[in-house]
Amino acid sequence: MDLYAAIRGRRSVRRFASASIEPAVLERIIDAATWAPSGGNAQTWRFVIVTEQARIAKLKTVSPGLIGEPGAVVAVCQDLAAARAKGSALGEVLLAPCDAAMAAQNLLLAAYAEGLGTCTVASFTHRAVARLLKLPETVEPILLVSVGVPDETPKAPARKTEGIVHWEVYGG
Ligand SMILES: Cc1cc2nc3c(=O)[nH]c(=O)nc-3n(C[C@H](O)[C@H](O)[C@H](O)COP(=O)(O)O)c2cc1C
Repeated sequence: MDLYAAIRGRRSVRRFASASIEPAVLERIIDAATWAPSGGNAQTWRFVIVTEQARIAKLKTVSPGLIGEPGAVVAVCQDLAAARAKGSALGEVLLAPCDAAMAAQNLLLAAYAEGLGTCTVASFTHRAVARLLKLPETVEPILLVSVGVPDETPKAPARKTEGIVHWEVYGG
């Protein structure tokens, strides 16, 4: 798949067909996530793949942003203690969420290349998700990504162009 076509064609999908996803496919898209860059090559991201529908249902009760019935939900997490050990306060506060977002974008694009739909979800109660997924004390969920067989073809929301790009200096 052409990279530019994937970048432009990927959409946030919130309606899924009720189909499970092969574990091998989930492993491939997580592998793609781990090929993202990370600050200082810290790789302090952690991924929890949830496929049990009962657990996904529980996640939904504490995640207003998690919409539809996805076949899987991937919690993109960070081990903040490891991030701090690697990159001190900058590692914990800035690099960790940046790295998680980079990994998540790889995941979205890889899933799209597999014919799957995804939606990034930031609207969830962190403590409740951490409890449901039995995350260790130092591991923080940064984003949830729903993954499933798409049952809709959303229109692309328009992209802003005015005032977004500046050459050489702001306003240039
Ligand atoms: C950091 C982040 C958080 C988001 N959180 C949610 C969310 O909680 N629920 C949701 O339905 N969509 C969420 N989205 C998806 C955005 O609404 C979506 O990416 C945006 O409308 C652009 O649409 P597109 O992804 O189809 O290009 C989130 C996206 C990002 C990048």
